[in-house]
Amino acid sequence: MSELNKIALKIISNGKGILAADESNGTMTKRLEAVNVKSTPENRLSFREILFSSDGMKDCIGGVILYDETINQISSSGESITNLISSSGAVPGIKVDTGAKDLANSTKEKVTEGLDGLRDRLKKYYDLGARFTKWRGVYSIGENYPSKLAISSNAHALARYSALVQENGMVPIVEPEVLMNGNHSAEVCFNKTSEVIKKCFEELILHKVDLSGIILKPNMILSGNLSENKISSEEVSIKTLECLKNCVPNEVPGIAFLSGGQSEIEATENLNLINKNNNTNFIMTYSYGRALQQSALKVWSNDIKNVEATQTTFNHRAKMCTLAAQGKWSSELENK
Ligand code: 13P
Repeated sequence: MSELNKIALKIISNGKGILAADESNGTMTKRLEAVNVKSTPENRLSFREILFSSDGMKDCIGGVILYDETINQISSSGESITNLISSSGAVPGIKVDTGAKDLANSTKEKVTEGLDGLRDRLKKYYDLGARFTKWRGVYSIGENYPSKLAISSNAHALARYSALVQENGMVPIVEPEVLMNGNHSAEVCFNKTSEVIKKCFEELILHKVDLSGIILKPNMILSGNLSENKISSEEVSIKTLECLKNCVPNEVPGIAFLSGGQSEIEATENLNLINKNNNTNFIMTYSYGRALQQSALKVWSNDIKNVEATQTTFNHRAKMCTLAAQGKWSSELENK
């Protein structure tokens, strides 16, 4: 087993999943302002530190994705954030892309940037304790989208990123996110997601990326958020599994879904059914941002000194997701 494969398995095995706490300062500001908390470096750290030092971290979380600001901050007890995470048994990770920018000649679409100087930044993050990384490509569904241009430029960037990350001893999370925004059907999401993921693997293979040392972070197959024909959770699980079975090479150890705007319960229920119906060799777990943090953030915003209530809320959510990652969740457990 390669070192990278071991790290990947440590992050996603035994029902553990990933806490995506890598919101950029811009996104985190929107999240905090939505609950009437001022977005300062101290407040951003304070909320995150409460999550990182919770019991839910020890029991459920195998990896945490950080943002550049957070990985450089010091916890209230004086230790580094990466030590705080490692001491709970989770692997510290870092988002290394610099965001989705307008794609020239297809201006309604985005291409993710951040390759310039990446090798040097990766060395710095490794020294700070990171052992895995994230890069997100983002694709919209529309009549003519995602275009071949967007699909191939994002796949190319994801592959170059992955090769550099592995060269520096870390596991790349490969995140091609086909957005749920729109009124498209689940079938369109299935077809577009399949095209996007296939192209990613074509490029990853071309760039000689060790597929046993990556984690794929895709969207689930859903109908668009404005679609009138929503499919059931059972159908989401079947279509998602079919797509991944068709498009992901067997060497990949695991898949950690993004929540992408689903509610906490939806994201949990869908993951649970994916695991119940899992007819692949892949570990299927979560790498959730909003679907892990939303309720905890709300509770915290009522009283930012109330660590216990915030942690209790987070612990519950993390436990539900971890049960779902083993196909052992049920809606009754939500109210226990
Ligand atoms: P959500 O689960 O909120 O979609 O965030 C996951 C993520 O990391 C998006 O890049």
